[in-house]
Amino acid sequence: MSNLKKTFTSYGKVILLGEHAVVYGSPAFAIPITKLKIETEIKTTAQAGPFIDTAEFQGPLFLLPEKYDGIRFVIETLVAKDQLDTHFEITYHSQIPLERGLGSSASVSYATVNILNDYFELGLTPAEIIELANQAEAINHGSASGLDVATISSEFPVSFVKPQAIVPIKNKLNGFLLIIDTGETGNTREAVAKVRQQVLAETQKKELIDHLGNQARKGIIAWQQQDILAFGKLMDKAQVDLDKFGLATSKIKRIVKIAKKNGALGTKLSGSGLGGIVISLAQTKATAEQIAHAVASHATNIFIEEI
Ligand code: MEV
Repeated sequence: MSNLKKTFTSYGKVILLGEHAVVYGSPAFAIPITKLKIETEIKTTAQAGPFIDTAEFQGPLFLLPEKYDGIRFVIETLVAKDQLDTHFEITYHSQIPLERGLGSSASVSYATVNILNDYFELGLTPAEIIELANQAEAINHGSASGLDVATISSEFPVSFVKPQAIVPIKNKLNGFLLIIDTGETGNTREAVAKVRQQVLAETQKKELIDHLGNQARKGIIAWQQQDILAFGKLMDKAQVDLDKFGLATSKIKRIVKIAKKNGALGTKLSGSGLGGIVISLAQTKATAEQIAHAVASHATNIFIEEI
């Protein structure tokens, strides 16, 4: 293992429809975002580690802050299982803003498993890689449906039902998706707990979860039929339902309103909510740019993705 170096590129994701409902066994529909990358590198070190290098932390694994427990879990699990030599350092260069529902933690976990698999020639199968990344996600977020890892490990948008029913949806919708970063950090663990508490206490909230699942089901069909108007309407309906759970901050609501006024076909929060990103659908690039311009003062970042 002398002076070996390996790299791995992983991507972000956006949930189009079905977040939260997916936790209860309904389908969700999500898309990998290759514009948002994490470049991960592993190299041999003179001293025993492992060592970790991120934008916020450089040092030995045992000093890694708690918020990186997913990384710690993956490395400790594989080191213990395969008796790995710990003379290595993993470096992460991420373009994915953290805690925004853009799949940063899933992407880091997935990259960590892959790069160790490659560097140490562990021979893990794709299913085993996904399984371990999902276990890391469960540590990051409490319980995780598996949607994020399923999406970031796919080349195409995916229809997903937990635990592992993944269907790639290969056609384009023929539109433009704005990914609008509110700059507010979401908290998946808190948002999932907030929804669960309401679902357990109120029958109507269980019905809302079923609505969200049905919107995802219909959305996948609309996407396959390239029915962009129907898809946009489903996004709007999902926003109304997600808002009823108290997941939309006032900033999210403001962005949704402005996007609608500026020609969006549909706009909703995406991911866990309580901050994070808003996604908005436009038929043309010109409309997408108009929406981007109109919401710019409420966003820290806006990406436009042709879909
Ligand atoms: C978080 O990216 C999506 C949620 O549906 C939680 C999950 O699927 O585990 C809110």
